[in-house]
Amino acid sequence: MRYLGIGTGTLVTASPAIARVTTDEADRLPFEGPEFQAQPFNMCGYAAPKLPTVRIAVIGLGMRGSGAVERLCYIDGVEITVLCDKDPERVAKMQAHLAKVGRPKAAEFSGEEGWKKACEHKEVDLVYTPTPWHLHTPICLHAMNNGKHAATEVPAALTVEDAWKLVETSERTRKHCMMLENCCYDFFELLTLNMVRNGLFGEVVHAEGAYIHDLSKEYLFNKNAYTDMWRLKQNMKHNGNLYPTHGLGPIAQCLNINRGDKMDHMVAMSTNDFSLGIMANELAKTDDFFKPYANKKYRGNMNTTLIRTNLGKSMMVQHDVSTPRPYSRIHLVSGTKAVAQKWPGPERIGFGHSWIKDAELKELYAKYSPEIVKHIGEIAKEVGGHGGMDFIMDWRLIDCLRNGLPLDQNVYDAASWSVVVPLSEQSVNNRSKSIDVPDFTRGAWKKNKPHDITLAGGGNTGVRKIANQ
Ligand SMILES: NC(=O)c1ccc[n+]([C@@H]2O[C@H](COP(=O)([O-])OP(=O)(O)OC[C@H]3O[C@@H](n4cnc5c(N)ncnc54)[C@H](O)[C@@H]3O)[C@@H](O)[C@H]2O)c1
Repeated sequence: MRYLGIGTGTLVTASPAIARVTTDEADRLPFEGPEFQAQPFNMCGYAAPKLPTVRIAVIGLGMRGSGAVERLCYIDGVEITVLCDKDPERVAKMQAHLAKVGRPKAAEFSGEEGWKKACEHKEVDLVYTPTPWHLHTPICLHAMNNGKHAATEVPAALTVEDAWKLVETSERTRKHCMMLENCCYDFFELLTLNMVRNGLFGEVVHAEGAYIHDLSKEYLFNKNAYTDMWRLKQNMKHNGNLYPTHGLGPIAQCLNINRGDKMDHMVAMSTNDFSLGIMANELAKTDDFFKPYANKKYRGNMNTTLIRTNLGKSMMVQHDVSTPRPYSRIHLVSGTKAVAQKWPGPERIGFGHSWIKDAELKELYAKYSPEIVKHIGEIAKEVGGHGGMDFIMDWRLIDCLRNGLPLDQNVYDAASWSVVVPLSEQSVNNRSKSIDVPDFTRGAWKKNKPHDITLAGGGNTGVRKIANQ
């Protein structure tokens, strides 16, 4: 006899043999681990107390983090109170930026473990983390355990265990843990989400997303791009979909994942590597710097992951950062009444055998772009950051915190979108074996409501004019 929690999180005492389980649940025996314990607190729909001023620690001030500081400076009610990077020169550079745009000097921390003090700092409400991937979970955990909300760059976690730690810590501390999936705020993605919500796609049956972006020459093998070559090292150590969330986030929202439906199981297949290893060996011939990267096995160029949901829908997510192809996140949404596809461009929507004309697409944009786009879209394009989506995301995060609204992306989204990283690797390493996706909501997905895409209760956060920016 032992304690079992079945599906919905109810605790019962029984032996596996006599437990009353559905066939679906029976496939998941033995009932062990956090998934089968009762959910202590549901962070979906959770509204934290209002924070009229949001004091932020930004940790990681590289290519992404420096842009984040610049964007956040535009938002009313934001104070960047802490700047942290292991490299003190990067901290100094962003202090200079704060001075240039007339913002107060921030406290500063550097060195390998400076992030701990940054998370502990008293004058911080939100820790914003654009560091290399391996630091996302430890920083979020330390932030929440020190009473701060956490916002992390993608992916939020690299292992199943870490994904659960994020969920458990967010539920225990009642602190938000948002993964900063900016692609959910791109214009076409928001349009299609609102059209889905308005029933124009009928039942969404299948969706596709991707991160197809040739990073090889300009970034992965560029000594001056990713600090300490962190991203190349990840591609050397792991084989699977290392970066699923840009493609997955927006389509998961269209399918109400964790809010009415859930990812049930997945399979993943990778090709061999046909270019990264060759590139490393070539570079090492003339430059000793690249010797540690030569004669190594790299992740397969293309990973394709298929996910089936509990309601019988499917998603395909691809990852390729090393073949010379035009950029694509696909963003295909296919329903019983309509289809949309963003990449390869042009953006297209169809209600039958053919795509609608440009003028009709414009009309759909005018009618179905959600309120947030009408409210902040033009300003976001001016501020910039991937065409504006980064600023829409930052502004919305701050507006929610200031108005005490639930965040659009919660810890369950962070965990389930990120867990595709380790699970795809597990599937690839086992001849594309089918792998169960953990239910991080512990059954609450059946009742959780989709996130609100109106600005109800908020929308009152202003944008600063910055003359010197
Ligand atoms: N959402 C997006 O569109 C998008 C775009 C680019 C990057 N990213 C993500 O942003 C993150 C950062 O990427 P990047 O391109 O800026 O990489 P980067 O290498 O330019 O920056 C990483 C920064 O983290 C710092 N750092 C490393 N170890 C540290 C430590 N122990 N303590 C404090 N700082 C430390 C480095 O010094 C560097 O300044 C990654 O997670 C990446 O995936 C997201």
